[in-house]
Amino acid sequence: MILDVKDIEVYYNNVILAIEDINISIEQGQIVSLLGANGAGKSTCLKAISGLLEVEKGRVTRGEIYFEGKRVDQLGAIERVKSGICLVAEGRQLLKTLTVEENLKVGSLIRKDSASVIKDDLERMYTYFPILKQRAKQVSETLSGGEQQMLVIARTIMMRPKLLLLDEPSLGLAPLIAAAVISEIHRINQELGTTILLVEQNAALALPISNKAYIITNGRVALCSTPEEMKKIDLRDYYLGRKRAAI
Ligand SMILES: Nc1ncnc2c1ncn2[C@@H]1O[C@H](COP(=O)(O)OP(=O)(O)OP(=O)(O)O)[C@@H](O)[C@H]1O
Ligand SMILES: [Mg+2]
Repeated sequence: MILDVKDIEVYYNNVILAIEDINISIEQGQIVSLLGANGAGKSTCLKAISGLLEVEKGRVTRGEIYFEGKRVDQLGAIERVKSGICLVAEGRQLLKTLTVEENLKVGSLIRKDSASVIKDDLERMYTYFPILKQRAKQVSETLSGGEQQMLVIARTIMMRPKLLLLDEPSLGLAPLIAAAVISEIHRINQELGTTILLVEQNAALALPISNKAYIITNGRVALCSTPEEMKKIDLRDYYLGRKRAAI
């Protein structure tokens, strides 16, 4: 198990209960999806794993998070990045005044690899997202929404995470572009072996590339199953909290 989230509870500002009780486990090399309605607690989960809750006055008040067998929930966000946990948050957080290529290079700054290995990786990002090569010298704030999303993912892959946390990568993208981004995420997983925890509103996009998925409702796991099983049932009952599987 590369990630083991055990019975966590999360509060914001000590008063808002965002996660009541969530368990998530991911094996090395898997893609696991977190699905669920607005406000269910998906982003909060990713923030708890990446250590970025504190920025929003959030706190894990119960439970434990293990990464590669070591407890990480008391580590700071930077230490978790150094150990290989990287988050692509909701919204496209780019260094707006830098070019596409400069943004990608910033991603690699935490690595100790040689310049030639980094250069190879840069080229690799351009094979995943060819549009970024065409835009390499363009200032990133002038990219389209879809291009910015691709850049923020590619920049995070330049950090070579062991566990990539992706918060709604398809949000706001045209359907074809969303499908293309999801398919490159799958390719990154297959080619680089990066383990991925993917938050998605769109189950139809996420399930085909997932090994396992969780539906989160009101800060709890309503269902944990394989995509094959999920295809057979009406997920709306779980999204809306009308049904909950015994987990
Ligand atoms: N910074 C914050 N301060 C206070 N409450 C918050 C904060 N962030 C989230 N919450 C609350 O925590 C709950 C879970 O929010 P979260 O953002 O994790 O949901 P989500 O599943 O990611 O939803 P969406 O699909 O809309 O992104 C919500 O009730 C939300 O209002
Ligand atoms: Mg969210």
